[in-house]
Amino acid sequence: MNSSLEIENFKLNHRDTGVHKIQLTRRNNLTYCGDERYIRGKSKYWSICNENVNYFSETISLINNFSLFLETGRILILYSTKHETPEHVDHSYSDFLQEFIWIRLDNNKRFYVKDFLGVKHFVECSCVWFDSRSLHGTENSIFPSLSIRIDGIFESSFREVIYKYIQTKL
Ligand SMILES: [Fe+2]
Repeated sequence: MNSSLEIENFKLNHRDTGVHKIQLTRRNNLTYCGDERYIRGKSKYWSICNENVNYFSETISLINNFSLFLETGRILILYSTKHETPEHVDHSYSDFLQEFIWIRLDNNKRFYVKDFLGVKHFVECSCVWFDSRSLHGTENSIFPSLSIRIDGIFESSFREVIYKYIQTKL
């Protein structure tokens, strides 16, 4: 392989978390005067990051074959050898839900989402969507952990499944 894998520090609020990230897409230099919240999921704002995708071409093929998305935007791999991901929210727009799926490849990543009472709900499966306005984070693990986040625009049938599920919880 000619190019090398680009591994970056994953930052939250401009601070290093100790977690590493591998971008499979990079932000295009499109001028966008609208609302930042709509960018993550839209394919026109993201391009395949060739130097990294050389190592993950099968991952990209798999994602392209998902029937969950109309289009995909940011695709990111996060891995950690021991660090926690600090608790945070991704945004606080009251009228907007990010459309993405989060996948973990092992059970080492102790990912949780907090409810409005502050109770942590640990993910017990391999793939989730959650309301990223809720506090979420990862607890420390003695084992390396890895996850992939894929942002996009959901197929309407998949969006309906999620919205129906949300309504049962309200
Ligand atoms: Fe987050």
